[in-house]
Amino acid sequence: MRKNFGAKTYVFPMPVFVVGTYNADGSANAMTAAWGGISGEREISVCVSGTHKTAENIIRCGAFTVSVADSDNVAEADYVGIVSANRDNDKMTKVGWKSIASEFVDAPLFDKLPFALECVVKSYDPETNKLIGEIVNISADESIIGADGTVDLDIFRPITYVSPHHTYRVMGEVVGKAYGEGNKLK
Ligand SMILES: Cc1cc2nc3c(=O)[nH]c(=O)nc-3n(C[C@H](O)[C@H](O)[C@H](O)COP(=O)(O)O)c2cc1C
Repeated sequence: MRKNFGAKTYVFPMPVFVVGTYNADGSANAMTAAWGGISGEREISVCVSGTHKTAENIIRCGAFTVSVADSDNVAEADYVGIVSANRDNDKMTKVGWKSIASEFVDAPLFDKLPFALECVVKSYDPETNKLIGEIVNISADESIIGADGTVDLDIFRPITYVSPHHTYRVMGEVVGKAYGEGNKLK
């Protein structure tokens, strides 16, 4: 027997993205987004409500960053998901992340978030809330780079949003080799 939950909007895992943008005064803003993912060649899609300050910033600047929240930033990533810059001018001071200008796009990176995608806007529709970005660069702080020259997921520990429980979980252990394990069944 399977249980039907109806037309809900969750899947496992969901990301905890932190979308970085510049406000009109040049200060940085960040918001959390769990509805999003890679949707094409060099393309990411994120649902950004048209009521958010982030939407206004994305339309004005034509660019944004997507950092991946990790286990060192659980409270901060949640905070930027519950406080809007539309209501709190001091939102980012309270988070304590310092913004760093992206070398590639007109949007901020954050010093405490070591992995990010830097994107230009391909399209954004405030009615459907669909933001599509072209990935111009991916950058990672050297503190999370492993011996093989890529991101070491034993050092960098992304979190995932568990929608039905409203919790965050950390990404787990390696259980197999992609494009490899399946060969056992051939
Ligand atoms: C776990 C979590 C996931 C969220 N996912 C989304 C999302 O996918 N899209 C969205 O528009 N808002 C999402 N939000 C809400 C925004 O992050 C929140 O409204 C934020 O305060 C908007 O900030 P801004 O107005 O400064 O841009 C999420 C919040 C949380 C806590």
